[in-house]
Amino acid sequence: MNETTHTLFGLKDMHKNEILYFCFFNNIHSMRVGILKEQPPENRVVLLPEGVATLVKLQIEVLVEQGAGIRAYADDAMYEAAGAKILTREDVIGLSEVILMINAISSTDIALLKRGQVIIGALNPYFEKDYVKALAAAGITAFSMDVIPRTTRAQTMDILSSMSTVAGYKAVLKAANELPKFFPMLMTAAGTISPAKVLILGAGVAGLQAIATSRKLGAVVEAFDVRTAAKEEVLGLGAKFVEVEGAIEDKSAGGYAVEQTEEFKKRQAQAIHDHAIKSDVIIGTAQIPGKRAPLLLRTETVEAMRPGSVIIDLAASTGGNCELTQNNKTIVHHGIKIIGNSFFPSEIPTDASRMLGKNYINFIKLLITNEGNLNLNWDDDIVKGTLVTHEGQIVHERVKSLINN
Ligand code: NAI
Repeated sequence: MNETTHTLFGLKDMHKNEILYFCFFNNIHSMRVGILKEQPPENRVVLLPEGVATLVKLQIEVLVEQGAGIRAYADDAMYEAAGAKILTREDVIGLSEVILMINAISSTDIALLKRGQVIIGALNPYFEKDYVKALAAAGITAFSMDVIPRTTRAQTMDILSSMSTVAGYKAVLKAANELPKFFPMLMTAAGTISPAKVLILGAGVAGLQAIATSRKLGAVVEAFDVRTAAKEEVLGLGAKFVEVEGAIEDKSAGGYAVEQTEEFKKRQAQAIHDHAIKSDVIIGTAQIPGKRAPLLLRTETVEAMRPGSVIIDLAASTGGNCELTQNNKTIVHHGIKIIGNSFFPSEIPTDASRMLGKNYINFIKLLITNEGNLNLNWDDDIVKGTLVTHEGQIVHERVKSLINN
């Protein structure tokens, strides 16, 4: 044991955090992962106590910011029981080799990070360009779980799919609450109530979950998509698939939709108009990653809908599928309620955090050795494809090209 360590163990009155700092800088510990508290209105936490227990079993030490899980109904005592140490935000940032978070951290937090420190979050790097630049300038090795390659092997780490599942479900519950009508058909002594008609724009992860939830509540459901692969899934869930001829598909887009021609857009707008005016609820989920959401619902279509109808635009944060959508606002236009809520996952914080935690842990498993030490393997396509900034540079090709253009 060298002189300094000897002094450490000899110093009975040394503050607990000083010891932790000491161990960190002298590399006499297993890997430390920090969990930060998210800022309101976010209710989720990146890892629940059950996730901490999994990391501890992997020989990872876990530091949790005080109160990190409180809005997801996990208190500090539960984290401690799972094997975590509860510390201040500053200490969690200062002592962790890898810091887990969901949303962007402030510039004050970035200033506390050390060059080479690793963060794993949902950076939204295609849109949050200044944030990405600040992380690169600070020399942070930043992984963004929302750009993880959509491959079969990465499915268990795909936070976008997890959160879209939550959003698709919650959007339907919200619509059912707001609609001045029933969702199911009811045959009562007071007469027969016809079922609500729900139109889903985009049948990806959120759209399919919205179809399934609407069907369970008894609505009649129709869905639009530009990918032919979506048709079978829509039909399988008991909804009608509305086809518009001539959609462009690009196999190299990795299962995602691509921008459509002007001619197609015109025909699709007309088809959507015809179906929208007969619908009680429209749920917009259409997206093209890295681009503005496709504009599918024009103002004149909204104005032709029945008053009391509800539009939930899940694509609000990227411009919305509806021309009138305002992000994180609810507006009423000609008697139609248009809800641009981009925080649905935060409204089911426990299960949303549970799903996120599983995704993050599966990713962390790619970053560690059997002994629980950090090992960044750049030959792994998932590790490489999720990395956004490293050694002062923006290294993710797509992010780089979006930032430079
Ligand atoms: P996804 O990529 O799985 O699905 C989007 C679907 O839209 C695809 O099937 C695609 O083919 C389709 N699409 C694209 N262009 C279209 C067009 N012109 N016409 C018809 N369909 C078209 O995406 P995912 O994961 O389902 O997410 C959907 C949206 O929900 C995204 O905008 C995402 O950001 C948002 N979201 C919102 C949340 C909230 O709280 N509001 C939470 C999670 C996700």
